[in-house]
Amino acid sequence: MGKVLVVAGQKGGIGKTTTVVNLGASLAIFNKSVLLVDLDPQGSIGISFKLDEYHVKLGLYDVLVNNMALTNAIIDSGLDNLDIAPMNVRNEEMEVELYSKALKIDLLDTVLKPVRKLYDYIIIDCPPNLGSMTLNGLVAADEVLIPVLSEYYALKSLGKFLNTLKNISRKYNRKLRISGILITMFDGRVKKQQEINDYLRKTFKHIVFKTVIPRNSKVAEAPSEGKPVILHDIRSKGALSYLKLAEEIIEKDNKKQ
Ligand SMILES: Nc1ncnc2c1ncn2[C@@H]1O[C@H](COP(=O)(O)OP(=O)(O)O)[C@@H](O)[C@H]1O
Ligand SMILES: [Mg+2]
Repeated sequence: MGKVLVVAGQKGGIGKTTTVVNLGASLAIFNKSVLLVDLDPQGSIGISFKLDEYHVKLGLYDVLVNNMALTNAIIDSGLDNLDIAPMNVRNEEMEVELYSKALKIDLLDTVLKPVRKLYDYIIIDCPPNLGSMTLNGLVAADEVLIPVLSEYYALKSLGKFLNTLKNISRKYNRKLRISGILITMFDGRVKKQQEINDYLRKTFKHIVFKTVIPRNSKVAEAPSEGKPVILHDIRSKGALSYLKLAEEIIEKDNKKQ
């Protein structure tokens, strides 16, 4: 039975999509079968594989709004062991429709059921808010991975976000666990970032992943090539860090079994 991992946070630009794509590709390299599901109307997962919303005929929009089966939205990423279910919102009307439809909070959970057994990991990308998409992701998930930047803002908001997760879990999904807090876009040359990193580890202890994702230009370039960073430059620090993260997650999961 596949593990459902949702990547969520309270704001944009913290590395959610980058983590979904590159963690997914790294787990696939380690021979795990992986499905990436895009809940963000921006459709960044498809774009990261050079599939824009016009190339995606059937996608999560049809699954969430038109009751289409998720299997019809799954496409091959081009990388062995890695499939994607992209979002296909083409215009603002579709986005409004998606948000205004009274989505059942467990809709994604329901549509994922027949697909779970086909994958080792199903990783969900979320928009930068706690709206109905993110809520659907959190209700469907077994675990939530929370990317954070080493900045002052993160310290202020992380505790609040963890509380919100606790409330959501209590109300809608008691099985939800925290996979980990992932420090992204880290620049060790900046003293302030180092201090915040230390503080995060002291405060949130073992919840923080040992692996840190460095700020790395290869990671930022890869989407414009339509590739995960491991296919863009496998020797880059960014690629190696996502491979390490995949190893850390696989190791943790092996211990739990
Ligand atoms: N480790 C990294 N090094 C350099 N740039 C990164 C890294 N991670 C993400 N980025 C860039 O930062 C921006 C925001 O990342 P993204 O994953 O889209 O965040 P989110 O999905 O949380 O909005 C993107 O332009 C992305 O390419
Ligand atoms: Mg994103």
